Amino acid sequence: MSDFQLTRTLDEHAADAALRADVRDGLTRTPKSLPPKWFYDARGSELFEEITRLPEYYPTRAEREILLERAREIASVSGARTLVELGSGSSEKTRHLIEALPALDTYVPVDVSESALRGAAATLLADRPGLRVHALVADFTRALKLPDSPGPRLVVFLGGTIGNLLPPERAVFLAAVRAMLSPGDGLLLGTDLVKEESVLVAAYDDAQGVTAEFNRNVLAVIDRELGGNFRTADFAHVAVWNREQEWIEMRLRARARALVKIRALDLVVPFAAGEEILTEISAKFRQEGVRRELASAGLELTHWWTDAEERFALSLSVADGRTR
Ligand code: AVJ
Repeated sequence: MSDFQLTRTLDEHAADAALRADVRDGLTRTPKSLPPKWFYDARGSELFEEITRLPEYYPTRAEREILLERAREIASVSGARTLVELGSGSSEKTRHLIEALPALDTYVPVDVSESALRGAAATLLADRPGLRVHALVADFTRALKLPDSPGPRLVVFLGGTIGNLLPPERAVFLAAVRAMLSPGDGLLLGTDLVKEESVLVAAYDDAQGVTAEFNRNVLAVIDRELGGNFRTADFAHVAVWNREQEWIEMRLRARARALVKIRALDLVVPFAAGEEILTEISAKFRQEGVRRELASAGLELTHWWTDAEERFALSLSVADGRTR
């Protein structure tokens, strides 16, 4: 008996159309920008895994420390029978939570990568036969239709990925999460915290240059998928702390003037020497800000856990009783 089901809400054609629209919009505006989601082809996902093991990149280790320490508490407070994980990837960190939830009925991993979902499900089901796994191939920034499954529900969104969204995008995202929940259901959210600038910048500009390669990979994606002729070596990796907005900005800076052709878009993109493309923001949070953004979406923050060095936080919030 197989308790694995997979639903696709994303097809290749839609993904290709979204890439074209994003690249055209982003490279014809001033200043130029590209959405961070296009980093993650097979090579980009591999580079991100490598980033999580770098000495400078603390968020993954800090979050794992909290989850290991708090899995029992999170499990008993939530009492979840259905666990929904947005951007589940390999489900590696969530395994601890699943192990701490003996009454869990259904796990719903959501990811854009079907291969990651299949791999994660196989590993989980080997340890936990009888657990229902209903994987969704979907873009978690869109409204999701969840399978029927028993409550209470706990939605988990780890890694600090909410920080890659702009504040208005976060409001839309949190409202969509709230719409998946009934009163009393929960959200477990990972957020990286504001800290000393040198620590933050080093995490996004490591000595080995892995983050630089990850950043430039978005240009390789455009070259391959859309017939671009970016030469990745012509762009320098830049990571800066924006202290007003309290976010890291990753940019790619043209080392010299250039004309980049993108065949599939029938587009020529001019770059001045030193001109930059904003490729990612990674917002850092404070407890009060997280509480306020959650409350605006109808979620009440009930627990706040950090690692020993207070670099990263997991918050648990509960859907309020208001009907929306
Ligand atoms: C996807 C949110 C975990 O913003 O820290 C890592 C992606 N970018 N290094 C982050 C990333 C550059 C990352 N998260």
